[in-house]
Amino acid sequence: MAARAATRNLRIGLIPGDGIGREVIPAGRKVLEALPSSLGLNFSFIDLEAGWGTFQATGTALPERTVETLKKECNGALFGAVSSPTTKVAGYSSPIVALRKRLNLYANVRPVKSVSTVPGAKPVDLVIVRENTEDLYVKEETTRTLEDGTKVAEAIKRISETASKRIGKIALELALSRQKIRNGGGISHHSVPKLTVTHKSNVLSQTDGLFRETVRAVYDAEKARYQGITYEEQIVDSMVYKLFLIPSDYDVIVAPNLYGDILSDGAAALVGSLGVVPSANVGDDFAIGEPCHGSAPDIEGRGIANPVATIRSVGVMLEFMGETEAAAVVHRAVDANLAEGLIKTPDLGGSNTTEEVVADVLRRM
Ligand code: NAI
Ligand code: MG
Repeated sequence: MAARAATRNLRIGLIPGDGIGREVIPAGRKVLEALPSSLGLNFSFIDLEAGWGTFQATGTALPERTVETLKKECNGALFGAVSSPTTKVAGYSSPIVALRKRLNLYANVRPVKSVSTVPGAKPVDLVIVRENTEDLYVKEETTRTLEDGTKVAEAIKRISETASKRIGKIALELALSRQKIRNGGGISHHSVPKLTVTHKSNVLSQTDGLFRETVRAVYDAEKARYQGITYEEQIVDSMVYKLFLIPSDYDVIVAPNLYGDILSDGAAALVGSLGVVPSANVGDDFAIGEPCHGSAPDIEGRGIANPVATIRSVGVMLEFMGETEAAAVVHRAVDANLAEGLIKTPDLGGSNTTEEVVADVLRRM
């Protein structure tokens, strides 16, 4: 691998949050520190606070310092998990939802990849790109009472050309960069990148129709750039059916907010443990890597949390920082650990600790 002319200094904000977030985010840091020096990347880190513990200590779940530091000083960030109170607590709201808004992270990207050593697992290697800002989640709901006294509730489903365009663009670019990572030796069963546009425009011809047409227009407008990508459109209900029947058919899936939310959690169920599923919250110039799992109070403090979701989130964050080679190194090391299947945490049927899995991944890098 050729060394680059200049060293790139990258500053990463670390937001462990609560529970096992505090056990897995240090693993993410170690992985970044262990990247080969030939890549020419020099990482520094800033510890940042957010979460339920922060709320209890300071009265706010997302201190301004965290937001400002991310905006002004960081090139990327890792977010662990936060605990949420089971009943409504005045003044508390989810810091990750707030961060997505404050930093305009309009795409939620969730790669789902099977662990080949889980018995009966179907081969899965796909990524869901979910629009994160609009659709039914604009939360414009009303309830009215008809003359006969019955109630009717209504919700706005808003789809804009702007949001559909930028999500389409991110998904197509991801299809290209995933191919590069595979060419770099990533383990995958896809030979050609593919984009599947999810919609229900047979019923919702205007809203989902606009989404579908806009994504297709992004593809058509840059035919030369995207010519290697197979483009297809699929209605969401049959999509769910096919996804569960033949998940290996999918590579990059792009969807409006609600369908993306549902498909994301459904797809995670295909691979056996929440402890292996990463995500990234992505905007035009910033990405926060985030394991999909929560703070897991049932295993907190025992040193057995699976670090794989976080390590993979490091890989996805690097992809969106433009560091494709570094991302490939991380993905390859994790995939090799999982493929061998010897050193694994209890959620995957193993008996190793978080530390032992991290050490195995670092050794493979
Ligand atoms: P959870 O994801 O924390 O745990 C669900 C189950 O998966 C538990 O049995 C847990 O032990 C297991 N698990 C999760 N991650 C694991 C890992 N890395 N290694 C091994 N096992 C793992 O979801 P749950 O229990 O519904 O929520 C717990 C807390 O986390 C709640 O306060 C919830 O609000 C919060 N949460 C936060 C999220 C976030 O910060 N993005 C997302 C989901 C839940
Ligand atoms: Mg969800």
